[in-house]
Amino acid sequence: MAGFEATFSGRQAPALATTYEGGDPALLQRLVQLVDLIEIAPDTIVSSERGQYILRPEVLDEYASMVPKVGLIAHGIGLSIGSFDHWNHDYLRLLDELFARFDLKWHSEHLACTVVAGESIGTMFSMPRTQEALDLVCKRVDLIQKLYPIPFLLEHVIQLLPDAPAEYTPAGFLNAITSRTGCGLVLDAYNLECDAHNQGLDIAAFLDELDLTPVVEMHLAGGVEFEGFQLDVHSGLTRETTLTLARDIVKRAPNLRAVTFEFLKEAVGLLGHDAICGELARIQQTVLRQAVLQ
Ligand SMILES: [Fe+2]
Ligand SMILES: [Fe+2]
Repeated sequence: MAGFEATFSGRQAPALATTYEGGDPALLQRLVQLVDLIEIAPDTIVSSERGQYILRPEVLDEYASMVPKVGLIAHGIGLSIGSFDHWNHDYLRLLDELFARFDLKWHSEHLACTVVAGESIGTMFSMPRTQEALDLVCKRVDLIQKLYPIPFLLEHVIQLLPDAPAEYTPAGFLNAITSRTGCGLVLDAYNLECDAHNQGLDIAAFLDELDLTPVVEMHLAGGVEFEGFQLDVHSGLTRETTLTLARDIVKRAPNLRAVTFEFLKEAVGLLGHDAICGELARIQQTVLRQAVLQ
């Protein structure tokens, strides 16, 4: 089993990471100068061939061209690890293809459902925080860790629906999963701010309760507010409040290995290459330096 503890133990300066979905060599050339790791979202680089989804070879070639200058990590979207009936086997086939081509440092998925009763919902619902859901997700995490030899991390998603009756608190549910399976966590500072805005999450209390030792990666992103709801769409730069929260997490998470700035490919035109690269430099200066200085 590839638990996070076997690979990540002890404080070291986290790496800087970012998203790249292919097809923009001018941006890639600049990103490679700035980051240590590139995050691949396998679901976003697929094409369909004879009814089967495959990873687009030209994008894989782009990733290959930057190794070993940068390392690679994977962040899935469509596994739907929390669906009660079954998860998405097609996503695992994409992972098989990716792992056959590259050595990745770790891979991660969302603690969420993207399919409910066989219907794709076009977004992610957080899981009910019950004993039954805990048993289901832990069984699947165990299986993933048996299937793939690199560490597996789970990321909490924002809560879109009002809170349902729960047997665990948000942090308590994550603690139960990590202590039972040995998997790691992706902590998304912007998602926490969305939950605070939309659902009244007390971030300070959440972080006090959360076991931060399994946190291997932190996500940073910026989104928009729509009709009073803070969306986790990755269309913007990071707010100052998110960076302040990120600095606190960097100080407190002893095994943090990467801070990832995420943006959608669709947002690149809006933001521009200069702003994206400037943002990475800002995170390097204001968040990662914090870890080196402490
Ligand atoms: Fe994510
Ligand atoms: Fe995230």
